[in-house]
Amino acid sequence: MSKAYAIKTQDLTKNFGKVLAVNKLSLQIPYGKTYGLLGPNGAGKTTTVRVLNAIISKTSGDALVGGYDIIAESEKVKMICGFLPESPGLYSKLTAREFLEFIGELYYLPRDVISARIEELLEMFNLVGRGNDLLEGYSRGMKQKVCLCAALIQDPKILFLDEPTSNLDPAAARMVKDLISELARKADKTVFICTHLLDAAEELCDIIGIIVDGELKIEGTPKEIIESVGAKDLEDAYLKITGASHINDLLAWRDENLNNHETKNKKQRNRKKRNKKSR
Ligand SMILES: Nc1ncnc2c1ncn2[C@@H]1O[C@H](COP(=O)(O)OP(=O)(O)OP(=O)(O)O)[C@@H](O)[C@H]1O
Ligand SMILES: [Mg+2]
Repeated sequence: MSKAYAIKTQDLTKNFGKVLAVNKLSLQIPYGKTYGLLGPNGAGKTTTVRVLNAIISKTSGDALVGGYDIIAESEKVKMICGFLPESPGLYSKLTAREFLEFIGELYYLPRDVISARIEELLEMFNLVGRGNDLLEGYSRGMKQKVCLCAALIQDPKILFLDEPTSNLDPAAARMVKDLISELARKADKTVFICTHLLDAAEELCDIIGIIVDGELKIEGTPKEIIESVGAKDLEDAYLKITGASHINDLLAWRDENLNNHETKNKKQRNRKKRNKKSR
């Protein structure tokens, strides 16, 4: 397979028993691009990023990340990627600084580089004053920020972010979005984001893929996707592509029922009136 892409997969598939979580996924993501993987709950987004980061094994197909095979060269894949998991585990008895030192050491970074990066990241995420507090005392959003620091500490070439702004307050979410766009535009990083936030995806992503039941349904720039289904914005396009627009059918069914109900009530009222008159 070609090494010209930051992420390249061919028929990548992952089953969990009978559940086909990722179904023959073929992606070609150039270096320096921001890619957004969208899809309903259970569509296979998290499974895809876990497979690509060599955290869980694939069932079949092939994938190269940064030109490295995710199975044969999994250590190299881990060294060049930063990964923000969907439900990160943190060592609650460590302070934020200790945790980030530990992560920096896993990447064999020199001590002075680790210290400098930690201070820079804590500053960026507004956590300087809390850096020596135990993580068990952190709020959900603060934990999310520490995990983002951990994903960024070795200045990765390719960054995977599974729901990067979840639990963040609006100001922190804005900061993370600006950071993502700076990483891509100025530092030439490849960023792969899984998100449900369609406005953020439209703003940040050069390419979007929409996955449903493990299968890639459509891929393109936000504009291409919107135009291809004649939608007014990305949310409208997403709802059309994922079939979620059947909510309109549900509402129509509800209206119909309401109308029937009202007609029934009207008929009953008329019957009562007629009965009254005849008495
Ligand atoms: N460890 C696991 N064991 C069994 N099934 C799993 C496992 N992880 C994921 N799955 C299944 O794989 C499918 C895809 O799940 P995944 O977590 O990748 O979805 P997702 O697109 O990230 O959803 P969400 O938007 O809710 O985060 C689901 O049917 C899920 O139940
Ligand atoms: Mg997920």
